[in-house]
Amino acid sequence: MTESEGALDEDLRVPSCERCPALVESRSRIVDGVGPTDAELLFVGEGPGAQEDERGEPFVGRSGDVLDDALRDAGLARADVRITNCVRCRPPDNRDPTTEELANCRGHLESEIDRLDPALIVTLGKVPSEHLLDRSVAITSESGDVVDARIAGASRRVLLSVHPAATLYDRSQRDGFFETIARAGELSGVGGREGGGDGQSRLGEF
Ligand code: URA
Repeated sequence: MTESEGALDEDLRVPSCERCPALVESRSRIVDGVGPTDAELLFVGEGPGAQEDERGEPFVGRSGDVLDDALRDAGLARADVRITNCVRCRPPDNRDPTTEELANCRGHLESEIDRLDPALIVTLGKVPSEHLLDRSVAITSESGDVVDARIAGASRRVLLSVHPAATLYDRSQRDGFFETIARAGELSGVGGREGGGDGQSRLGEF
């Protein structure tokens, strides 16, 4: 990372925030997005879980392992993409963030999207999909769809995806998830599926 990139990344950090009393109580730290601030591909999850809260980085637990596998399978490196969440503090008992908590954190997410101006945003799961599209989403059937949405004052291309954790609860969703991530690589022009996997290569690990 160059000095100026470091400064930009610093700009996107949320050094302190006390807006959501329940999250302030449950978090150990604020978990900011990671990855290049000029990434063409932005993944948006729901909010940090226990591992993310402990390590201060999005998607580093079991869901993160699935995401990493799918990225690798698609010929993408985690270092080439940006990964963030709708809320930056871990909700208690891994519950979904409330409407108010999502709204409180929206400005941070919009600043990140505005700064990156990515070619493609991938929403990982129902919560980020509904939050960014501002409508209800049937994520299992809409996963893989590409839509244009007005976000942070501009028209953005959004690819909807199931959450990687869904593949842990229901293995039949794994191939579809891997395909969606591969599609993200193709649509954004990032990486490429060299020696392309079939989404089955590491199924045995879970
Ligand atoms: N699930 C999410 O939605 N985000 C994370 O960072 C980890 C798990």
